[in-house]
Amino acid sequence: MNCKVEKEIEILLPDDFHHHFRDNKYLDTTVFYAMQRFGRCIAMPNTVPPIRNKNDAENYLSRIRESIKRFIKKENKFEPLMTLYLTDVTTEEEILEAKNYGILACKLYPAGATTNSNFGVTDIKNIDLVLKTMERIGMILLVHCEVTDSKYDIFDREKYGIEIMLKPIINKYPNLKIVMEHITTKEGVEFVKNCNDKVAATITAHHLLYNRNDLLVGGIKPHMYCLPILKSEIDRKSLLDAATSGNKKFFLGTDSAPHSIENKECACGCAGIFTGHIAIELYAEAFDNVGKIDMLENFSSRFGANFYGLPLNKKKIKLKKLVTGYKVEEKIKFGESFLKPLRGGEIIKWFIE
Ligand code: NCD
Ligand code: ZN
Repeated sequence: MNCKVEKEIEILLPDDFHHHFRDNKYLDTTVFYAMQRFGRCIAMPNTVPPIRNKNDAENYLSRIRESIKRFIKKENKFEPLMTLYLTDVTTEEEILEAKNYGILACKLYPAGATTNSNFGVTDIKNIDLVLKTMERIGMILLVHCEVTDSKYDIFDREKYGIEIMLKPIINKYPNLKIVMEHITTKEGVEFVKNCNDKVAATITAHHLLYNRNDLLVGGIKPHMYCLPILKSEIDRKSLLDAATSGNKKFFLGTDSAPHSIENKECACGCAGIFTGHIAIELYAEAFDNVGKIDMLENFSSRFGANFYGLPLNKKKIKLKKLVTGYKVEEKIKFGESFLKPLRGGEIIKWFIE
């Protein structure tokens, strides 16, 4: 490898506000990569079975911590932040108990919207009291903002999700803090910009770097399939503008979502892209591509923590860009199988010192 460095930056240790650790035998893979890059990760609750109450969260956290212990080096502190998965039968008591335990946020998956969302909410009316309680006690609502009705085009699911789901929630609970997760469209960007400061959004690295041509042109690429699905180049540019603009409403959430190779390369492949192995490196590339690397730290290490009411990380990391780059591992052990990570077998230039 030619190790000549073209540029370097130092930033506060980033946090990931949307991460799929999965569970049990998969944790060693996800934790290993996450803790090298992030101080804290919001752990998505769509495990099998999902994390539906404080007890589930407590047990899940201890399984993740077991895995952290296997890799921990001295003075390396890594903190997974638990969330709850809302269902039609989530109760006010469960929300209060979760809050007392220290859970900061609950995730709203419309039933059937994405991977492991079959226990999700079938009608917003069913969680009326839950949302009212969350608003009252200051718990953050994380929304997978896509409509599921088959009459909507898959590329318009986010746009209609805003109209049909998100706007009514915001109107009804004006003081509820909301993160529109993994936004993918120009409409999503404009919408979040125009809301008050209670509403923010996460953006993934893959939606900053790729568009739907990367999924569909020259043959279908199952490893580029995720939900919300990759959108047009206009959308990608709009996300990149938002992420690099210094607007505190937009912050880092990788949505790193591993699936085994067999579950991706088949007749009905799973949605989800694994980016955990080079997560911050990909964001650095996206920001650097448009000459905005100096805007990365706010997006990756400040705005999310501020929105969640968390202190900033104290540690710093150094990111360096090589002149020629290095090859990303082609596949990664995942339980008894393997996964194909984003960029597997391809070249990337940024790395963490
Ligand atoms: C995620 C997964 O695999 O859990 N998949 C994805 O395509 N992003 C779920 C999600 O965040 O939608
Ligand atoms: Zn996700």
